Amino acid sequence: MINLEGKVALVTGASRGIGRVDALTLARAGADVVVTDILLESDLESRARAEQYGPLAQVMQSTGQVYTERTAEAIRAMGRRSAAYRMDVTNPEQVREVFARVREEFGGLHVLVNNAGTLDHLGQIENQRDELWERDLRVNLTGAYTCCKAVWPIMKEQQDGRIVNMSSVAGTLGGFGQASYSSTKAGLIGLTKSLALEGARHGIRVNAVAPGIIGTEAFKMGTGHQDRMVARTAFRRVGEPEDVANAIAFLVSDLARYITGVVLNVSGGIELFTF
Ligand SMILES: NC(=O)c1ccc[n+]([C@@H]2O[C@H](COP(=O)([O-])OP(=O)(O)OC[C@H]3O[C@@H](n4cnc5c(N)ncnc54)[C@H](O)[C@@H]3O)[C@@H](O)[C@H]2O)c1
Repeated sequence: MINLEGKVALVTGASRGIGRVDALTLARAGADVVVTDILLESDLESRARAEQYGPLAQVMQSTGQVYTERTAEAIRAMGRRSAAYRMDVTNPEQVREVFARVREEFGGLHVLVNNAGTLDHLGQIENQRDELWERDLRVNLTGAYTCCKAVWPIMKEQQDGRIVNMSSVAGTLGGFGQASYSSTKAGLIGLTKSLALEGARHGIRVNAVAPGIIGTEAFKMGTGHQDRMVARTAFRRVGEPEDVANAIAFLVSDLARYITGVVLNVSGGIELFTF
């Protein structure tokens, strides 16, 4: 059985979607969970900040689809410890502060899920906006690197660390109109495998999951290509955030103690040859 009792986990980008369900699933498996995001529902300051994070953040904030603090409350209601912190993964100082605070208040940090990501634009290379290319690299790839670097000394000292990076089938297959997104998701696979090699001697395992099409709030708002994407899956349906969260719970549990450096597809077979 998956049992994470006694472990402290932190999920980035957990205000909604896959990250929120990851946090709840890890808590159900017994972990204390710190829920982090750029958006917190009670933080008036972050309302203004939503503008800075682009149209998707603004829509989510204005339609109330921000559940960071409510997720932490739900976890506490399960009898686990939890807190919601604002943490922008592109801000290394803030990341270090939050991790130091978690270590102090929760007594350690054993599980890191690098989930924060940007999934809000499509555009072929000629129309790729340079600032979005830079932003995607900063959030999806450098953000995960920053969090891994900040957690490393803590996990090393504990001789116990379990990291999961959120890649995507766009990182393994490429994606039409997704040059920046898929490049960051491919980059995360390199980061995962390199850190798996470096971490093994310190009791740190590093793996990745590569979801296919998952029916999150952001996906449902989507691009209008949903039906075509669904038709490419072997199951002919989208996945649920729980499908990804369950894979992550397994990878960070002791059941996966001999698994490091893998990329686990959670994709309904979208990468298989089908017609
Ligand atoms: N939904 C899918 O079909 C799918 C498929 C493959 C991979 N993924 C990946 O899964 C992850 C979650 O996707 P989702 O569908 O839940 O998307 P989402 O947009 O709902 O969630 C992304 C979260 O990241 C947060 N975030 C954005 N920028 C941030 C920053 N600078 N610092 C901290 N947090 C930040 C957002 O506020 C949001 O809570 C992403 O990494 C995405 O690329 C999703």
